[in-house]
Amino acid sequence: MTEDDLIAAAREAAENSYSPYSDFAVGSALLFADGSVVTGTNIENASYGLALCAETVAISKAMADGARGGLEAVAVTGPLDKGGGAPITPCGRCRQVLNELAQLGGTDPLILCVGAEETRRVKLSELLPHAFGPASLD
Ligand code: THU
Repeated sequence: MTEDDLIAAAREAAENSYSPYSDFAVGSALLFADGSVVTGTNIENASYGLALCAETVAISKAMADGARGGLEAVAVTGPLDKGGGAPITPCGRCRQVLNELAQLGGTDPLILCVGAEETRRVKLSELLPHAFGPASLD
């Protein structure tokens, strides 16, 4: 699985986005140490504030199937014609949700933030420094 493959999986997931209110389709793909990939897309609601982000949906799918670690990389894609084509970075809540699984498994996943001109490659710890997580409760 190359980085381009992971980005392609996120793009494919975005095809199932339910985002009639924002018209902003997001896709996310999680790569695990065993090579498996879990995808998610954003799911909005007529009660706007209840929208679920693509990354949160992907993490929820993975954890509901038993994942408790091994998160190595995450690709996030969005519309390339919005936001000036800038790379899309996970929202604050999603950073925290991603951190839960990352910290559980002791990994610092690479986040591939896809934009029109470039893909920004950052570690989760750069997006969420000094994170509060499960270890904080020990
Ligand atoms: N969205 C995501 O899915 N992930 C993010 O990290 C940022 C925002 C979604 C939420 C909403 O459905 C739409 O993008 C516009 O905010």
